[in-house]
Amino acid sequence: MSLIQELDHGTKFVASETMVTLTVDGHSVSVPEGTSIMRASLEAGIKVPKLCATDSLDSFGSCRMCLVEIEGRAGTPASCTTPVAPGMKVRTFTEKLQKLRRGVMELYISDHPLDCLTCSANGNCELQDTAGEVGLREVRYGYEGDNHLSSPVDGSNPYFNFDPSKCIVCSRCVRACEEVQGTFALTIEGRGFASKVAAGMDEPFLTSECVSCGACVQACPTATLMEKTVVEMGQPEHSVVTTCAYCGVGCNFKAELRGDQVIRMVPWKDGKANHGHSCVKGRFAWGYANHPDRIMQPMIREKTSDPWREVSWDEAIGRVASEFKRIQASYGKGAVGVITSSRCTDEEAYLVQKLTRTAFGNNNTDTCARVCHSPTGYGLKTTFGTSAGTQDFDSVDDADVIVVMGANPTDGHPVFASRMKKRLREGAKLIVIDPRRIDLVRMPHVEAAYHLPLRPGTNVAMLNALAHVIVTEGLINQEFVQSRCDLDAFSDWAAFVSQPGNSPEAMEAVTTVPAALVRGAARLYATGGNGAIYYGLGVTEHSQGSTAVMGIANLAMATGNLGRRGVGVNPLRGQNNVQGSCDMGSFPHELPGYRHVSEPAVRAIYEKEWGVSIDPEPGLRIPNMLDAAVEGTFRGIYIQGEDIAQSDPDTKHVTAGLAAMECVVVHDLFLNETANYAHVFLPGATFLEKDGTFINAERRINRVRKVIEPRTGMGDWEVTQAISNAMGYAMNYAHPSEIMDEIARTTPTFAGVNFAMLDHGSVQWPCNEKAPEGTPIMHIDGFARGKGLMVVTEFVATDEKVGPRFPLLLTTGRILSQYNVGAQTRRTANVVWHAEDLLEIHPQDAEDRGIRDGDWVRLASRSGETSLRAHVTDRVAPGVIYTTFHHPTTQANVVTTEYSDWATNCPEYKVTAVQVSPSNGPSAWQDSYREMAAKSRRIEAVPAK
Ligand code: SF4
Ligand code: SF4
Ligand code: SF4
Ligand code: FES
Repeated sequence: MSLIQELDHGTKFVASETMVTLTVDGHSVSVPEGTSIMRASLEAGIKVPKLCATDSLDSFGSCRMCLVEIEGRAGTPASCTTPVAPGMKVRTFTEKLQKLRRGVMELYISDHPLDCLTCSANGNCELQDTAGEVGLREVRYGYEGDNHLSSPVDGSNPYFNFDPSKCIVCSRCVRACEEVQGTFALTIEGRGFASKVAAGMDEPFLTSECVSCGACVQACPTATLMEKTVVEMGQPEHSVVTTCAYCGVGCNFKAELRGDQVIRMVPWKDGKANHGHSCVKGRFAWGYANHPDRIMQPMIREKTSDPWREVSWDEAIGRVASEFKRIQASYGKGAVGVITSSRCTDEEAYLVQKLTRTAFGNNNTDTCARVCHSPTGYGLKTTFGTSAGTQDFDSVDDADVIVVMGANPTDGHPVFASRMKKRLREGAKLIVIDPRRIDLVRMPHVEAAYHLPLRPGTNVAMLNALAHVIVTEGLINQEFVQSRCDLDAFSDWAAFVSQPGNSPEAMEAVTTVPAALVRGAARLYATGGNGAIYYGLGVTEHSQGSTAVMGIANLAMATGNLGRRGVGVNPLRGQNNVQGSCDMGSFPHELPGYRHVSEPAVRAIYEKEWGVSIDPEPGLRIPNMLDAAVEGTFRGIYIQGEDIAQSDPDTKHVTAGLAAMECVVVHDLFLNETANYAHVFLPGATFLEKDGTFINAERRINRVRKVIEPRTGMGDWEVTQAISNAMGYAMNYAHPSEIMDEIARTTPTFAGVNFAMLDHGSVQWPCNEKAPEGTPIMHIDGFARGKGLMVVTEFVATDEKVGPRFPLLLTTGRILSQYNVGAQTRRTANVVWHAEDLLEIHPQDAEDRGIRDGDWVRLASRSGETSLRAHVTDRVAPGVIYTTFHHPTTQANVVTTEYSDWATNCPEYKVTAVQVSPSNGPSAWQDSYREMAAKSRRIEAVPAK
């Protein structure tokens, strides 16, 4: 448990090897050169009063509260903007200084409501504290003159209020929005007494460019910008540090509570992935934990047409075990399987795959990474020898050229995007490779040097064209290649990409991107200094997803952009623990640590630890499980924390597979779409109720700490353990830390990991005897596989072709305020920003079809059709349309196809040939689906006793 108020040093830490010694009020102190007097004073134990300074922002020097006297210097400089000097003698608390400070404070207070006792910031207000520190006892100017006390409160944002009557115009909010978030939504309007904070064009926060990251709220020293939960429930009084459960950035938060009630989430300054920043989801969208839709009691039913019946945990677990045993007795050992969750902890994912390999006696375990980053695993393992990104997030601070391919960081990975934008504002160059004009292409103070708006499905053609330029124009980093790469493979690759057919000019017909742009981008990446590639699902979710990942790795090796800060190949992972669920052996062919089940030595480790014999044959992948269900050989599944009926492609096929099974067990927070096909529902715990670890996109193992007890009475790991015990395989963990101890015992990359060490700070795997502090940057002296392997990446067009019936290409993605299938975010106030999925269509395509902005349209493919509203925008190119998949009433995945990556079966979500036509409203199936879902969610009334 931690305190609420953290020490604020006033100004940022400055790194310097040169130390400067000075005295502050007679105390000698040594600090790095460039440090402010304010920070040095605090190092000496002396807190100088301040208002406009805070250690997350650059010094500004506007409030005049931090004045000091320096021997031999005239005047009273601001200690926040004045750097230390050798031998300096500083005085911080003379009568003259206190008088000056009181005078300034008097002016602030004369235009400030004196409602401290009833103010929501009471007890945690820097203005109140500072007034006390300077000894303010009277306000001579009275309160009758002009003031801002009647300025109306802007409560338009669902999560925080803006009460200008309390504003002291310190500009911390404006600077936080610029420096930390990089959105530039706020300004100080007017001058002198009339100056005030304005959002956007002096409009309500909700309609401005504000993205609700909350950095301004956190920076505000008064109650002007304040969380509504604090206004309603009062100030928190203790906190627990934990990790966000939304995206793969892995931001650390202080969950601040009063009693056992969460009041707010405050990004933790010491969080190594987020350094005190957050996005709207992590900071504000946690209310789903208390949403009335949440299921608190286990439930069972005989048939999916029956209503649910609430039962005890014992009865529900007994039913799961008896059903799975019955199915295995009738259909064989391989007739049941699991899907582990990338939303649950490492310990929980580990336990679910262990359940399969022990109690079930098969390898039928898969995870949602199948449908997102499995090509990353395959591609990076093949080329580098490890299935993970090469850098830490901080590495971007040293990048000179940043390539963003098939990713939309400002929406998908917003806190990392803020970091990236900061580096871009400092001068790094940006290359965006994406069919859509994502925000990064042009936003305040950021503009891409190149945007290559390639046609969906042509990533490999583009990567080969970029490689062609690098090889044929002599831009290879020969030294790196000669010393670090497999030379035979390099020769084959270089000969291949040099072929005229791979030139930007030849590929222009395929990618539709002008060759000159491709040539310019390739030269910039190869010669612009440190080149870092960040990529996302726009690379992996293709029939050539694994090929494209290897194409990216080839580019990085050819240019020597690996093995140091500022460079690398960086997959931006989607879900909070998708890296961890893969690391934990969730795939049917791999035991923890990405070791193939066919390797006898690896099996032997687990056979000894678990006391069972492990099948050397890989088990079924998710699509194979569904195929086998339709064929009648796969009859039971335990799905923890995934909603495959909404998230997986070709919905008809998924639901046919689920409907064919005899026992579908869903373990989740809500009756999701998959639960429509379930026979047992086991209520899950939210991240606030979990103890364990998540692993983020930079391989960082973050602690997740229990903020409140599981509201259902059982942690998710305890449920899995109970199923295993009921099936006859004993598991006896007393705490998730014991599960991590087992992971460390059996997995070399985790050998040095345990909860006690993680409680001193997160680490990045590998963490073992060779790297006891973890590994921020991989492949420094050599690749994990020895020599880096360049792979020939021939472009093969997808079988999904446009034609007269389906002339447009649909690509999908997500937006900032919603998350994945929306199960959590749809149950928060985030719906004000995105209440429905929209179809982005180019004005020309819209006009050809008689479609106007806001019209209902029918979206049809070879797989199915759905209806949604159109958003006419030139953000997409002609011929390309785009939508999100956050809402089950739209179910964008009814139109996506069964095509998938050749190596991993990762679905080709990003390329579907479709037609769009005007429509009157939702399709018939959407209405009947609503009815079916409502019927399926009926819970039998409990008879009165
Ligand atoms: S809103 Fe808060 S942070 Fe912004 S200027 Fe006013 S007092 Fe300062
Ligand atoms: S919430 Fe974030 S984006 Fe909005 S004004 Fe504040 S700092 Fe800017
Ligand atoms: S960036 Fe990701 S991890 Fe960070 S607060 Fe937002 S959703 Fe959570
Ligand atoms: S804190 Fe230094 S001028 Fe405001």
